[in-house]
Amino acid sequence: MNKKQKITRSQYEYISSKLETKNILLKHIFDISCLLARSPDLGEVLEHIVDGVMTGLNFDRAAILLLDDSETRLDCLCIKGFSEDGKKRAQEKPIVISKHDCYEKKVIKSGESLFIKDMRSDPSATKIDKIITKYQERRSVLYMPLKLKNRVFGMIGVDRYRTHMEITQDDIESLSIFANQASIIIENARFNKALYEEKFISENIIKSSFNGIIVSDIKGNIKRLNARAEEILGLNNEDLMHTSLRDLFDLGEDEKKGIVGIWKKKEAIRNLELYYNGKDEKRLIIDVNVFPLIGINNNIQDLVTVISDITEKKKMDDYMARLDKFVALGRIASSIAHEIRNPLASIYALIQYLEAELHGNTFHKSCFHNIRNEIDRIEKLIRQVLDLSRSLPLEVRKTNIQDLLLSIVALVTQQANQKEIAIKTVFENSDVILDIDPDRMKQVFLNLIINAIESIKERGEILISTKLASDEHGFENGISIEVRDNGIGIPCSVIGNIFDPFFTTKNMGTGLGLTVSHKIILDHGGSIEVVSIENEGTTFYVRLPITDKVSSNK
Ligand SMILES: Nc1ncnc2c1ncn2[C@@H]1O[C@H](COP(=O)(O)OP(=O)(O)OP(=O)(O)O)[C@@H](O)[C@H]1O
Ligand SMILES: [Mg+2]
Repeated sequence: MNKKQKITRSQYEYISSKLETKNILLKHIFDISCLLARSPDLGEVLEHIVDGVMTGLNFDRAAILLLDDSETRLDCLCIKGFSEDGKKRAQEKPIVISKHDCYEKKVIKSGESLFIKDMRSDPSATKIDKIITKYQERRSVLYMPLKLKNRVFGMIGVDRYRTHMEITQDDIESLSIFANQASIIIENARFNKALYEEKFISENIIKSSFNGIIVSDIKGNIKRLNARAEEILGLNNEDLMHTSLRDLFDLGEDEKKGIVGIWKKKEAIRNLELYYNGKDEKRLIIDVNVFPLIGINNNIQDLVTVISDITEKKKMDDYMARLDKFVALGRIASSIAHEIRNPLASIYALIQYLEAELHGNTFHKSCFHNIRNEIDRIEKLIRQVLDLSRSLPLEVRKTNIQDLLLSIVALVTQQANQKEIAIKTVFENSDVILDIDPDRMKQVFLNLIINAIESIKERGEILISTKLASDEHGFENGISIEVRDNGIGIPCSVIGNIFDPFFTTKNMGTGLGLTVSHKIILDHGGSIEVVSIENEGTTFYVRLPITDKVSSNK
């Protein structure tokens, strides 16, 4: 038979008070555990934990100290129940692990709880302990480490400064249970904080970056891009979403392979210069860098493409390079042109004399004719080189640019007709008057139109058009003149050289036409640009500032 065990009243009271304490402890553990679901910031979490310790376990002073990221310093991040001065001192004077020998350091190093019954008479107290004990008026103090998987990252310190109630073995056990749960919650909050900070920093870097940043999957399908990328590409997020990087730029076969190759080789592509057709048909030169984003398992997770618009910089570089060439050419030209011209004049005179003396037959006559033609060609070449090297003053006159273009068309019509090439003109305004040197400007457009004729083998079309140029072309008030042909086009490999002196792909060409044209346009404060697609055609854009505009149509 089971005999019912009787308990005394005092035993009953003791058990029920213990149960009540445990209940309160559980309630506070439950309260702080709810923080896991809410993930508030670290400050709030620490406040809740300190409150829980004080109300749940009847301590009247509590502090949480956490190791910093480098684990060299112990900072007091939350403190309650102390005097204002005590709080200030604790928060302003962190414990430096390598320097300060004290109870707190012992807890961190051992990872064990530490209970000192009376700090004022504790023989193990160090100098620092004694100082702190004095100004914080410590007596019985309990320290509990905060740790996860044996890694100690901080501690909770508590005492009963006001009630002087004894700290019992039960209290130590309860605080230990509480600290275990608190450790999980603090680490979780710290992890969230670090994650948030990292996200905040990277998002801000991306947002404020002067470069365009595009994130795509490994196949190049765009997932995200920053405002600068939208601005450079002249498209918005929705337009670009799910388009492929490979379709965005004019990629050659090698470049396409390169981008595909990134996720095979895990290597970045650096400083690829690609053409991009931007807003208003503006052709941009974009510097493209593609980096693989390596995720967990060492696999490529995404591709990050950093783009910057280098159109203006390239133009300036090209301009400076051409300027250098003009200067170099000028030096050579002026030193040798003189030496060639004089003997050439003598040769010419002697040929004329011989021609008159010999009264030769038709064959001789044609020989003399050819010699004179060749001398003319050399003379023309020297003149062009000299024109390039010295800055001849422009003879500026008010000139109707449309009339000037029509007069050039009249000059070349016969040559065009022979190859069945139609020359069309479309002028947005017929009354634009420019302050230009008409003879030199004629040289420019004659060369551009003859180049266009020469680029068409047989049957084709040349379109000469003018329209007012807007601000973005560098003029507040300017005119853009286009010479467009549907000829053979210029291969990408040589397009960068066509303005170079003596660059020609023609048997009889001097390769000075575009060099001279460019110089004349620069002398007029204008600019010249070319866009060409091989086997489709070429367009030259000449932009000149307008200084006067007379409206004759009204
Ligand atoms: N419209 C065009 N279509 C295709 N290629 C062109 C065109 N314009 C210029 N080029 C290329 O640029 C090169 C340089 O042109 P440029 O006018 O300077 O010299 P050129 O025409 O060869 O000789 P010239 O000094 O007699 O004009 C040409 O040889 C040609 O390869
Ligand atoms: Mg030419």
